[in-house]
Amino acid sequence: MDKYIINGGKPLYGEIEISGAKNAAVAVIPAALIVEGVCRIENIPQISDTDMLLTILSEMGAEVRYINRSTVEIDCTDIRADGAPYDLMRKIRASYYLIGAMLGRFGYAKTTMPGGCNFGVRPIDQHIKGMTALGATAEIKGGFVYAQAPEGKLIGSKIYLDKISVGATMNTMIAAVKARGKTTIENAAREPHIVDLANFLNSMGADIRGAGTDTIKIYGVESLHGGTYAIIPDQIEAGTYMAAVAATGGEVRIKNVIPKHLDCISAKLREMGVDVDEYEDSVVVRRTSPLHRANVKTQPYPGFPTDMQPQISTVLCIADGTSVVTEGVWDNRYKYISELKKMGAEVQVDGKTAVIEGVPYLTGAPVLACDLRAGAAVCIAGLCARGETVVEDVIYIERGYEDFVGKLRSIGADIRIETEPDSIEIAAPVIV
Ligand code: EPU
Repeated sequence: MDKYIINGGKPLYGEIEISGAKNAAVAVIPAALIVEGVCRIENIPQISDTDMLLTILSEMGAEVRYINRSTVEIDCTDIRADGAPYDLMRKIRASYYLIGAMLGRFGYAKTTMPGGCNFGVRPIDQHIKGMTALGATAEIKGGFVYAQAPEGKLIGSKIYLDKISVGATMNTMIAAVKARGKTTIENAAREPHIVDLANFLNSMGADIRGAGTDTIKIYGVESLHGGTYAIIPDQIEAGTYMAAVAATGGEVRIKNVIPKHLDCISAKLREMGVDVDEYEDSVVVRRTSPLHRANVKTQPYPGFPTDMQPQISTVLCIADGTSVVTEGVWDNRYKYISELKKMGAEVQVDGKTAVIEGVPYLTGAPVLACDLRAGAAVCIAGLCARGETVVEDVIYIERGYEDFVGKLRSIGADIRIETEPDSIEIAAPVIV
């Protein structure tokens, strides 16, 4: 298993290019299943989550062709419902989008339950609510989800989500695209990737209106056609490097971003004394003075993203004063705090709240990447710490960050990958 070795304390300078958004790509790829024709998808991030989804489609009979590093053509003309590779599905959270996609395409779905859970219970009851509102029968049995549309066709309906859920919103959208009549999703999530999925489907002939608001209307169409679509830049990847510069000091231009999507992150960093200048498709992050304390509460978009909570909390560990972080989305997303404490962070966690007493500096230590964003957070801690940090279980980081080490090295970070050739490869745990 690979480890990252980080020698901290070096400010970051230069330019960095952001890849396509993971959480958009992991919905767009399964959504290609309902398209009859060739979907050419650009700006796909090179991460193991997208690789796994493309492999799943390919094993189901899709033709998947890489045009270049980030462009893939997917042709699902000959895809089969019975070819689903369940062992692969079990490894990835976003395989839940295959429920909506298979129901929409075949009128029938059998998928595995998306696996294990790193930050509390991750139910899919709202996904099931969406499918049943569209007329499907759905049952979870023996680790599988079975769903069946009446006479093979879903029927448009009105759905009020009890909880704002990114996954349930996108899954219901995918399922409803070819349903008979109109579907309305109320209390829908509004994240940029929801809009991206709607734009992808609309560019293939769907009729989805209102994505990005809390009411989404989907007018069912008979069929979708092929086309070309480019995934939006990754808000969280950009935010992670912004946090890294805030932690280490220095000045970095973060390119290929939509600055509007970064507003909540930029505003919080400014509150902490970091300069963030916005340009048309880049932001420049500069930190030359000590960091100030701040309070952070994570919320669905346009609130501060939960997927940035570990990274911003890490920066607050070295800010002046006491900060309070409240996790408003997940029940348990503070496992990484015990790793930060090994590096000298002073943090008390009580339920969904973390109280952080800023310390003058962190000290390098051996730490674990507990999950994707937690892994990015301990790397940020390592980058600003005094001495050497060894990060293990980096497989989590590689599920969601394209060329994480290469990009950091390009802006002056002293980070390298150490491979242990004799170690036994353990299957990637589920979730991101
Ligand atoms: N929830 C339910 N029932 C459901 C679905 C969700 O109660 O049927 C609850 C969850 O337990 C949670 C809240 O609703 O408390 C929000 O969950 P949501 O469904 O929005 O999360 P998700 O779709 O499973 C996606 C991202 C996560 C990100 C969340 C929130 C993907 C593959 N994952 O998960 O991303 O944290 O939205 O923005 O898109 C990450 O990238 O690191 C990551 C974990």
